[in-house]
Amino acid sequence: MAPQVLAALRPTPSGRYVDCTVGGGGHAAAILKASAPGGWLFGCDRDGAALEAASVRLAEFAGRFELKRGNYSEMIEWLAPESCDGVLLDAGVSSPQVDWPERGFSFQQDGPLDMRMDRRQAMTAAQLVNETSVDELARIFREFGEEPEARRLARAIETERRLRRFTTTRQLAELVEKTAPRRGRRMHPATRIFQALRIAVNDELRFLRLGLEAALKILKPGGRLAVVTFHSLEVREVKEFGRRHALDYSVPGSVDVPELRQPAVADLAWVSRKAIRPGEDELKVNPRARSAQLRVMEKI
Ligand SMILES: C[S@@+](CC[C@H](N)C(=O)[O-])C[C@H]1O[C@@H](n2cnc3c(N)ncnc32)[C@H](O)[C@@H]1O
Repeated sequence: MAPQVLAALRPTPSGRYVDCTVGGGGHAAAILKASAPGGWLFGCDRDGAALEAASVRLAEFAGRFELKRGNYSEMIEWLAPESCDGVLLDAGVSSPQVDWPERGFSFQQDGPLDMRMDRRQAMTAAQLVNETSVDELARIFREFGEEPEARRLARAIETERRLRRFTTTRQLAELVEKTAPRRGRRMHPATRIFQALRIAVNDELRFLRLGLEAALKILKPGGRLAVVTFHSLEVREVKEFGRRHALDYSVPGSVDVPELRQPAVADLAWVSRKAIRPGEDELKVNPRARSAQLRVMEKI
């Protein structure tokens, strides 16, 4: 999505940019290159391994960037309000997180049932699967995985874990496959369950909500926010955030009763509410990008 992200952020040599999810540094490098010779970038990630990779990748831009390990929801503590020209938030997991079996994100390869983006965090997927009540597991599978068999799977996990604790990705994937067989579907039955657990372990949707609010605070008026999402739950958060901030009225409570609306000043405008998708060329080299959707907003 680098060409689309650059078109959205329009980097200039006097600009200050933030990559909330620096990962391996691919987008950050593109922004630094496009804003040469004077553009500056602040890159953050909660994954220590990602930051190590990014610092190698970005070495050629030494002096023009700063990296920070932490959660992007805390951005406002590191950067002054209204100090940045563009913010990129590329949500979700990175390829190394998925490809490295030790991280435990993938059911395609066996590994410890971990799924923590920040390995300093105490709670792992194994802990969640072994210690969470059936009701809570079912809620996680339903809300974060949109899994129709949520309760049946949660019950099957509870029965199994009385015999032996879940420790590996394969053990869980096999139980899911046994309980909710594929029945001709192309998608592996564990796909939704692994997505749900990953979102729960990393509290992804709550941090996305907080991160978007923080990004808006650090942007200068006229600054751009580019958000890349990979599934419908993230899309919903971004659209709701954009909708709320683009409104020129506020309502008391959670229900929008037109008679009770109070005038308010919108602090954001959509540049592209419609999803911008990766080009065919990118999909050829990076098929994982097929579900990526970029949306762009501008601070007023
Ligand atoms: C899709 S990858 C980003 C890839 C990156 N744009 C690149 O060019 O390599 C998403 C990254 O966001 C990080 N991440 C996810 N949620 C985060 C959060 N709340 N705070 C900080 N980093 C987060 C993940 O650890 C992961 O490295």
